[in-house]
Amino acid sequence: MMFARIAGVGSYLPGAPVSNDDLVARGIDTSDEWISTRTGIRFRHLADAATTTSDLAVEASQRALQSAGVSAADIDLIIVATSTPDYVFPSVACMLQGRLGNSGATAFDVQAVCSGFVYALTITEKFIRAGGHRRALVVGAEVFSRILDWQDRSTCVLFGDGAGAVVLEAADAPGILASSLHADGAYRDILCVPGNVRDGQVTGDPFLRMDGQAVFRFAVKALSEAAQECCESAGVTPTQVDWLIPHQANIRIIEATARKLGLDMSKVIVTVDSHGNTSAASVPLALDAAVRDGRLQRGQKVLLEGVGGGFTWGAVLFEF
Ligand code: ACO
Repeated sequence: MMFARIAGVGSYLPGAPVSNDDLVARGIDTSDEWISTRTGIRFRHLADAATTTSDLAVEASQRALQSAGVSAADIDLIIVATSTPDYVFPSVACMLQGRLGNSGATAFDVQAVCSGFVYALTITEKFIRAGGHRRALVVGAEVFSRILDWQDRSTCVLFGDGAGAVVLEAADAPGILASSLHADGAYRDILCVPGNVRDGQVTGDPFLRMDGQAVFRFAVKALSEAAQECCESAGVTPTQVDWLIPHQANIRIIEATARKLGLDMSKVIVTVDSHGNTSAASVPLALDAAVRDGRLQRGQKVLLEGVGGGFTWGAVLFEF
């Protein structure tokens, strides 16, 4: 039986951290107290005007390749999860492929907003287990600052930019143990960017809109159900997992999910305080932080969880 295991991890954040007080200094009618007590966010990174999603993806990917000890030429599949691509097309995956100097690998983007990385990792595992591909680069990369309405204080303080990447390769032992992916388009309106470009003009609304309280309720329910389902299909209980790495949207969503799963917060990786919500990049950024600071060790069981616009949600359980 062929499995897929994580061989290397990397991440990248643009520029210096931007504090809540920095946002106040930029003229946003908010406060460190409001943002930190409701969300746990203290800092985020914001890309400058010249920096694109593929720029962030290249940096994170190079670090993941280095940590796996492989080169771009060794990769036969590239999947990028993003909702903020550089262009309508080509995909960020193809831009990344060209810039890494890989040619011939299968390459495409996945659009599942904040669940994007969990979706991409699950898809990649299925490619590898099917036998046609041996070593993949899986990336979550976003410049969410580009789709924020900086006049809307209820959303613009919540998000940040960044990228995270893993190298996933064929192995004789796990690896990924189980995954679950879901979506329900009936909830499309509670978190969306309901606009586009048509005939050279912006049509609809090009900025992120959110019903915060509806999203909060949906996220806690979806995250705990996906975690339970994923663990059940691997024959483990959530409390047997060494680390929970949830999507980093809001500390209160993370704490409520951990509580529902009976997990102590000492087993939960939290980066929302220093990254904000980086959408598809949040889970691989948190994964890389835990690997780099030595908390996450080889052989440990890790549960990743995502939830985002669509609505989409899911979980992946793996042995590191
Ligand atoms: N600074 C100061 N005041 C603010 C701000 C701000 N940045 N934003 C809103 N307010 C004010 C509002 O104007 C309102 O004032 P009013 O009572 O005078 O009208 C007051 O704060 C309360 O606003 P609410 O929207 O009711 O605040 P709530 O307590 O619901 O908190 C929040 C809002 C933090 C967004 C919360 O709903 C939440 O955490 N939702 C989850 C959403 C989330 O995390 N989304 C991330 C994307 S989704 C995902 O990744 C899955």
